[in-house]
Amino acid sequence: MSDARRPLNRPASTALAVAIAAGVAAGVGLAQSAPKPYASADPTAGKALSDKDCVTCHAAKFGGDATRIYTRPDRRVRTPAQLVAQVQYCNTEIGLAYFPDDEADVAAYLDREHYRFAP
Ligand code: HEC
Repeated sequence: MSDARRPLNRPASTALAVAIAAGVAAGVGLAQSAPKPYASADPTAGKALSDKDCVTCHAAKFGGDATRIYTRPDRRVRTPAQLVAQVQYCNTEIGLAYFPDDEADVAAYLDREHYRFAP
């Protein structure tokens, strides 16, 4: 009889509370690590720009393979901030007059396709 009064759902709800607390803690941890400067940019738009403006010259410099510039062992870009800086540099050098949003889109695309920096 007294068993009927035992709150059967207590263990489950305790586990749920622990899971929620852990999730909140993980969320706080993520919020504290610096987001990529192009975290909310559009890699699909970036691909279109890269295909149009960047691939031909990179391919010409690297034996016809435009991806090698990003995947070579001694590549220059090592961090998301460096990626943004390099995209700005190439953009300015070749006089494309991208807006900062365009640069962010291209950086997001290059990260997704080639650099694959940890989120
Ligand atoms: C006129 C030729 C040319 C064009 C056009 C060009 N680049 Fe480059 N880019 C280079 C060269 C050359 C390098 C290698 C520089 C080095 O290694 O010293 C380079 C390197 C880079 C790198 C660094 C690769 C690494 O080592 O990690 C990035 C990123 C980059 N370019 C982005 C772009 C983007 C984005 C565009 C288009 C908006 C673009 N480039 C257009 C010539 C070009």
